[in-house]
Amino acid sequence: MQHNSRWHTLEMADQVALAACQQILASAEYAIAEHGRFKLVLAGGSTPEKVYRLLAQADADWAHWFIYYGDERCLPADHADRNSLMATQAFLEKVSIPDAQIFTIPAELGPEPAAKKYQQIVASALPFDMVLLGMGEDGHTASLFPGHQHREDELAHAVYNSPKPPPERVSISARALSNTRHLIFLITGANKQEAVRNWRSGQDLPVATITPENPVDIYIDRDAYNA
Ligand code: 6PG
Repeated sequence: MQHNSRWHTLEMADQVALAACQQILASAEYAIAEHGRFKLVLAGGSTPEKVYRLLAQADADWAHWFIYYGDERCLPADHADRNSLMATQAFLEKVSIPDAQIFTIPAELGPEPAAKKYQQIVASALPFDMVLLGMGEDGHTASLFPGHQHREDELAHAVYNSPKPPPERVSISARALSNTRHLIFLITGANKQEAVRNWRSGQDLPVATITPENPVDIYIDRDAYNA
């Protein structure tokens, strides 16, 4: 049974980014009004960059935003392939979120020590207000990959032998990623078509293990959806 989802199919990737940005800003206003802060988990990969660049141009109550990462690659903190570097350059260095409210995964320490440290940060943050996630061509999300086994009691996992380079990563767990009021998937590009079809047909993929109480919003362009 597929988790209750709202599919928002838009013609172009730019429209996907704009719609997602608008929902994130609305979710932030709601969360800050309701409990004084907005706890946002950023997605990695390349798809979210358009969203981050739009957020950087927005006018928001940044002083009450708290930033987390769904996953990180075990590379030096300044490595060009770090998810945190992309998010910083596209978004975080352009807005006034206090540095103390940005919780980067210390993945440069290696999978085990970084996951252990981030486990505590996630435990203190839950529940999230908004989680952003991408999806890989094999149906992975964050750094949760098909066929990988993880302990159920972990909030953050050490990841080895990732089929998507680099091989070592850290990922927030499916259970912790699902502990959120809102969740958005960002999926664009024809190379995601097969994974989308497999997900919609009920295949047991990592994306299907993300099951918040509320419906998830899937923002997808025509190229990726093309059912
Ligand atoms: C990563 C991401 C990963 C990503 C998907 C989609 O570290 O690579 O967390 O889960 O979201 O692989 O990547 P693209 O957006 O680049 O297609």
